Amino acid sequence: MKRRHTSGDREFNPETLALGFAYEPELSQQAVKPPVFLTSTFQFGSALEGKRFFELAYGLREQEVGERRGLIYSRLNNPNLQIFEERMAAWDRTEMGATFSTGMAAISTCMLGLLKPGDVVLTTSPVYGGTHYLFSHVLPVYGIEVRFVDAGDDAPGAMRAAAEAAGRERVRVLFVETPANPNLVHSDVAAISALGRELTAERDGESSRPVVTLVDNTLLGPVFQRPAVAGADIVLYSATKFLGGHSDLVAGVATGPESLMRPIRDLRTILGTITTPFNGWLLLRSLETVSVRMRRQAKSARKLARILEEHPKVTRVLHPSLLEEGTAQRALFERQCTGDGSLLCFEVEGGEAAAFEVLDRFEVFRLAVSLGGTESLVEHPMSMTHADVPPAELEALGVSSGMIRVSVGLEHMSDLRRDLKHALGG
Ligand SMILES: Cc1ncc(COP(=O)(O)O)c(C=O)c1O
Repeated sequence: MKRRHTSGDREFNPETLALGFAYEPELSQQAVKPPVFLTSTFQFGSALEGKRFFELAYGLREQEVGERRGLIYSRLNNPNLQIFEERMAAWDRTEMGATFSTGMAAISTCMLGLLKPGDVVLTTSPVYGGTHYLFSHVLPVYGIEVRFVDAGDDAPGAMRAAAEAAGRERVRVLFVETPANPNLVHSDVAAISALGRELTAERDGESSRPVVTLVDNTLLGPVFQRPAVAGADIVLYSATKFLGGHSDLVAGVATGPESLMRPIRDLRTILGTITTPFNGWLLLRSLETVSVRMRRQAKSARKLARILEEHPKVTRVLHPSLLEEGTAQRALFERQCTGDGSLLCFEVEGGEAAAFEVLDRFEVFRLAVSLGGTESLVEHPMSMTHADVPPAELEALGVSSGMIRVSVGLEHMSDLRRDLKHALGG
């Protein structure tokens, strides 16, 4: 398959591309799988070649037609990461990917690459706790203002109002986490991206700094949601989750148009936020099965969500499969997503103490943060993943002290069902 996306006039599906695209066996002794390139540095064929590689890497001259960017040093590029990035860009239908040491490194490097002091970020809320911390405590130190709007049906309108209030010309980034972690509320990527393009169109003379829409696609992507197809500019992931899929690595990835991703990759080189060759190899291995894993995990999650809904001790269950017909959220979900994923939340009466009692009784589900791995995990968002977000803010977003978040893995359904009922006390 080599470097081709297509066969004749037919595009290969991403599941197929994940098994061969962007790898050239003749460069690796005809090995069917890419070997792990555990090397920090690469040998140049000649001094002139080394000079020319650096000229391109540092943007000192334009790339000539047919000229390839050479391998230099693993803080800039590495075959394992390059292959993964090309496959992710193909999956997201974007031009270029960049792999990072963590999901937070992906988000923070993108933000630092796009923003300047005085700029405004508009973001949906809630977002993952680490992202919330970056937005609330780190970006403001550099003179960047972040305004939060509630995720959901009104998010595009609320972002428009926030842009008016902040000054439309100051807005530089629209950030969307959808569905939101942990309340699983969906926000309309197409409508928010359209707002970004509208704001960009107003900037005369400033066209080199467009308004950029970034979507954190960790919870449903890349299998069930493709934000770039809906109009988003940059698609972000904590690759620690479904992409890695086995809870044995931390990594992040972002994909987007080359005009935005190239400077972000250059900043990654200087900040040193790239991940390791071995992580790149693990991610390539995992990308081959991500579609199978996510579909099977989602199927189990759907069944568990229904069991929870009928359990007398459970006061509320959140999972896309339970979105009511006829609601705006259901319509948006059907428009934007092709599957409902394996993250779900449920609430028990009695606040933190009752939730902790349930959490401590699980045997098959492991009590740990993170999600998207092959093993099922449970955690308490208010005191764990979202501990930085003020409890009142979480309560207002429907995340109560009695709420438990579940990431459904690949264990046998009957064991998961039994363990869930046991944890809830029968
Ligand atoms: C939605 C979302 N985005 C980003 C992150 C951060 O990713 P990482 O832990 O790989 O830095 C997480 C982590 O839980 C997450 O859930």
